[in-house]
Amino acid sequence: MDYTITEAKLNDVPSIVEITLQSFQDAFNKPFYLTREDAVHRWTAYMRKEHHPQKAKDPRIVYLAIGDGKTVGFVAGHLTERFDLEGELQSIYILPEHQRQGLGTQLVITLAKWFKKWDAKAVCVDHKGGSEGFYIKLGAQPNEHGWLVWDNFLDLLNPKE
Ligand SMILES: CC(C)(COP(=O)(O)OP(=O)(O)OC[C@H]1O[C@@H](n2cnc3c(N)ncnc32)[C@H](O)[C@@H]1OP(=O)(O)O)[C@@H](O)C(=O)NCCC(=O)NCCS
Repeated sequence: MDYTITEAKLNDVPSIVEITLQSFQDAFNKPFYLTREDAVHRWTAYMRKEHHPQKAKDPRIVYLAIGDGKTVGFVAGHLTERFDLEGELQSIYILPEHQRQGLGTQLVITLAKWFKKWDAKAVCVDHKGGSEGFYIKLGAQPNEHGWLVWDNFLDLLNPKE
């Protein structure tokens, strides 16, 4: 399937939450740790820059992946001072039936293009058991806090053959 990637708006929050709930349940075999209502509230506040993950700066972005007219995944990231780095990949979720087709990689590369505009190279991501293989495949390495870190996230824009 061909996917289009587009910047999310506030009225996309319900789709973002629906994808999170479904994808999380499928991947981790338990319900997401926020209720639907709380997750809608959290994402709305994140996008409005009213909720700040620890050490987050204001600039932030959410991209959606659209397939066949339906939102099937998203990625979110922001500038940060966490661990004295520059960027944080906040969240990435793809509906189960659209996984392992390169879409996650496509979304991460789109996020890298956004980080490039801010010259943000050193990027971290928290990870839940099971997803670290994806980030490590994309070049991240564990740090001493148990997070995964890219020294230069922008390398994703120039993949080595
Ligand atoms: C993790 C996730 C975003 C990856 O997206 P995706 O579109 O499936 O990833 P890609 O197809 O681009 O995968 C690229 C490579 O990453 C690796 N990879 C992807 N998912 C992986 C997983 N769950 N475990 C181990 N390696 C994985 C593989 O090497 C894969 O290449 P391959 O399919 O040729 O073997 C997606 O599977 C997902 O939404 N998972 C459930 C939610 C989740 O874990 N989100 C992250 C929370 S921290």
